[in-house]
Amino acid sequence: MPNDSRPAVLELIGNTPLVRVSRFDTGPCTLFLKLESQNPGGSIKDRIGLAMIDEAERDGRLKSGGTIVEATAGNTGLGLALVGRAKGYRVVLVVPDKMSTEKVLHLKAMGAEVHITRSDVGKGHPDYYQDVAARLALEIPDAFFADQFNNPANPLAHECSTAPEIWAQTQHDVDAIVVGVGSAGTLTGLTRFFKRVQPNLEMVLADPIGSVMAEYSRSGTMQTPGSWAVEGIGEDFIPSIADLSSVRHAYSISDEESFDHARQLLRAEGILGGSSTGTLLAAALRYCREQTTPKRVVSFVCDTGTRYLSKVYNDQWMNDQGLLKRKPYGDLRDVIARRFEDGRVISVGPDDTLLTAFQRMRLADVSQLPVLVDGKKLVGVIDESDILLGMQEDPSHFRLTVSSAMTDKVQTLPASANMAELQAELDRGLVAIIADASGFHGLITRVDLLNHLRRSLA
Ligand SMILES: Cc1ncc(COP(=O)(O)O)c(C=O)c1O
Repeated sequence: MPNDSRPAVLELIGNTPLVRVSRFDTGPCTLFLKLESQNPGGSIKDRIGLAMIDEAERDGRLKSGGTIVEATAGNTGLGLALVGRAKGYRVVLVVPDKMSTEKVLHLKAMGAEVHITRSDVGKGHPDYYQDVAARLALEIPDAFFADQFNNPANPLAHECSTAPEIWAQTQHDVDAIVVGVGSAGTLTGLTRFFKRVQPNLEMVLADPIGSVMAEYSRSGTMQTPGSWAVEGIGEDFIPSIADLSSVRHAYSISDEESFDHARQLLRAEGILGGSSTGTLLAAALRYCREQTTPKRVVSFVCDTGTRYLSKVYNDQWMNDQGLLKRKPYGDLRDVIARRFEDGRVISVGPDDTLLTAFQRMRLADVSQLPVLVDGKKLVGVIDESDILLGMQEDPSHFRLTVSSAMTDKVQTLPASANMAELQAELDRGLVAIIADASGFHGLITRVDLLNHLRRSLA
């Protein structure tokens, strides 16, 4: 197959739809979302992936057989991998370890090489993802460091494509744009374009709590950065390309509010966006509702939610992170990740086969299951080692029943037991079984306890 022609997929980048939000209270305003999720790589970053590669080819920094290197929260990597791999380049990406598995798998599937690095260290630390990428770019021969944080082709891509599209799609009638800041390419590109055509346009910043951007734009002061779970936006430093001159409002949005708004957007409008889309929507709605005169407001669905199915749209993950509200009891039921009363316990029956038990464990990513009769009466527990016992001699053991391999003399703890008793139970084996006169409540593993302790830290 010839690969010297321009790959057709590149023509699909940009010209994304703009849709009006109709199922939320937007006060006196009209709110539109630009669906950047419709780009072929699934995010707004396809635009800059294309622009930075085209520009580097033009000015000779990227030559045939060369390698593209970048530090990326995932989406820029996807954009660069989409364009770079289609054009036949090697693509090497450094990704912080909080990024969703779906993004990393997508990158690898496109043939990019992914280096995972720490997300808990800041600029200047040798493991900081941008510093790791800069180092790799020096070490790899014929490497082009895309460097979205300092590359003028990044804001230029938005000035030349995203901004004029919005201008045309709103029929030259737009009062405010709500954006997040990662590299600040979007903010800066839009600011430059609209200063020329609509100088009164207000840029509104949507920033995760913990990021330094919102406070810096309000007061010019740098706060100590915190941490946040939203991906792609929020910064612990001010990117060199950031143009904050049109920012008139800045909203700091919690992870909880961001994730909740992403989920609401799917339920209300059928639009599946990522976590940062929730941040932008929450800020946009606050801005809209605060207005006293009608305004036309644009924001973004920055990337597709399909790459966050295991996070934002996964109740178990949301619960582990403390991002979903659950009824608190003030006892060990608060530590149980999958409560029986919520219908979340993954279990097997005594007559199920060991194969069924094993498949359920794999599907739910757990190492043990309670064995319940009629889906409610606890008669035992089965774990991986129970299944493995005897299996090596004869794999047909998979056909045996759960009751033949389970532990039926189960030690239980009442929900009213204290933390020391829970700890002692966990020290004795894999899992604590919480049950008392009111019935079976669920299991507690060490991971559940760690998640619980981490939640109480926040
Ligand atoms: C996932 C994601 N990546 C990137 C951006 C924008 O980033 P940048 O400031 O790098 O243009 C956004 C938000 O607008 C985003 O949601």
